[in-house]
Amino acid sequence: MKEMTIITEPDEVSLAHRGAAIFSRIAAERLALRGRFVVALSGGSTPRPMHRMLCEEPYFSTIPWSRTHIFWVDERCVPADDLASNYGAARADLLDRVPVLPDQVHPMPMDFSPEEAAAAYQEELVRFFQSPPSKIPVFDLIILGIGTDGHTASLFPGQSALREQKRLVVPVRGGDPLVDRLTMTLPLLNNAGEIVFLVSGKKKAPILKSIIEGASVQYPAQMIRPVHGNLTWLLDREAASQRHG
Ligand code: 6PG
Repeated sequence: MKEMTIITEPDEVSLAHRGAAIFSRIAAERLALRGRFVVALSGGSTPRPMHRMLCEEPYFSTIPWSRTHIFWVDERCVPADDLASNYGAARADLLDRVPVLPDQVHPMPMDFSPEEAAAAYQEELVRFFQSPPSKIPVFDLIILGIGTDGHTASLFPGQSALREQKRLVVPVRGGDPLVDRLTMTLPLLNNAGEIVFLVSGKKKAPILKSIIEGASVQYPAQMIRPVHGNLTWLLDREAASQRHG
């Protein structure tokens, strides 16, 4: 890992602003360096205010929308118009409101069995990144959240997906809602250039303390350790309330 940074904002609105500012900074840096920006979004409720802010100034016009590609770290196997769909939520909050073309948006496929859909998404990643079989794609930015059980993406405690070394995307079942899901695996997530965890609210305070301060690795979120990239924990004061210092 290059660097780990912990940022604490006063509340969830300032957390969303800070997240949007980081998103727009990394997008501009990657555009200058590589001519495009490739991001993987998380589901759940925490990133939603940030997604809505990205459609507004001062962020909107700083983001190279026509050179941006959007993927998902995980998805619940439900139709896009289901309230539980991570893609559906991001479409309403963000994608329908910014100038991105359909071929820049890469939702996890829902029209196959979970096993087939995971393989199809992996193929899409390999095609998009043009990665040789031995190379793991490198996302410019991956946004993650945590659950009160210490999960991240759809990597749940005790499940075999945590041990996956070869596949980039696997099917799992778990979480709330308890449905079939697809998730990116640790080798892919940990290969990103920048990983940003967004964590908000009192409910997350105990698990956040255990994840950040715990002496041993007990939770999936602790297994996020970018191999070459940076890790940022972006918290609000309530989420950070049980931490020392
Ligand atoms: C999902 C997620 C998941 C999420 C956390 C936090 O699809 O369920 O990607 O890992 O980030 O469960 O969710 P909240 O933001 O809703 O608390």
